[in-house]
Amino acid sequence: PPLYIITPTYRRPEQLAELTRLGYTLKHVPNLLWLVIEDANHTNRLVAQTLNRIGVPYEYLVAPMPEQYKKTKRAKPRGVSNRNRGLDYLRANATEGVLYFADDDNTYDINIFEQMRYTKKVSMWPVGLVTKTGVSSPIIRNGKLDGYYDGWLGGRKYPVDMAGFAVSVKFLHTRPNATMPFKPGYEEDGFLRSLAPLQNTEIELLADECRDILTWHTQTKKNPAAQVLNKRYVNTNLEFIDKL
Ligand code: UGA
Ligand code: MN
Repeated sequence: PPLYIITPTYRRPEQLAELTRLGYTLKHVPNLLWLVIEDANHTNRLVAQTLNRIGVPYEYLVAPMPEQYKKTKRAKPRGVSNRNRGLDYLRANATEGVLYFADDDNTYDINIFEQMRYTKKVSMWPVGLVTKTGVSSPIIRNGKLDGYYDGWLGGRKYPVDMAGFAVSVKFLHTRPNATMPFKPGYEEDGFLRSLAPLQNTEIELLADECRDILTWHTQTKKNPAAQVLNKRYVNTNLEFIDKL
């Protein structure tokens, strides 16, 4: 079955570096379509060039964050319009396989992709480098899902990280109203709740029954000196061309 990897992205100095690193990880994975969805009104030629160079099968789409959220001084719902666009794409274009939300800055061991590929409804596993406690994971007792460990529970039914679950496309098709809410901190919980009804016994636990950490919520240090790196560098005359 095919894997659909939904990656939100947005323009900043680190963007092309992030997509390059993630893209070459995905290049080790067969039968995969990479849905790269940018928080922007238009596609960017340099992003398209980068995706072409990597050579992983991809679709490059745009889905801007609604203006009301862009303006707020509080936490923004990052990547939400992008991920919902990805869900719409799958509703229109996919019949089988599995979807996974892979942020452009995280780190993925390719073993998790083969494990998630056979997800019947929803699968889950641990994610490293989440909050001060360092890991977010389902808790297994007597072979059964028995709650979650996370540094911030926040009253969530599913206190899991975006990198810690996958969903079957066939199952998504049975939940036409499933959507990710524009609610910072509650994106994963809201989306998973919108897949109801979903029994705990239907959640498959991967990564050696959640003993292995195969995905990490890494974050890239902002690099102010790299403002020019999202532009095309013209080596011959030391100029940078913007707005390509
Ligand atoms: C992220 C997200 O903000 C939350 O949606 C999510 O709940 C949380 O991780 C999680 O996984 O639990 P953080 O790592 O701080 O938190 O956020 P970013 O990595 O900056 O953004 C998440 C994704 O959205 C990235 O792929 C990023 O490229 C994209 N993004 C970010 C946008 O498309 N637009 C933005 O304005 C910011
Ligand atoms: Mn991140």
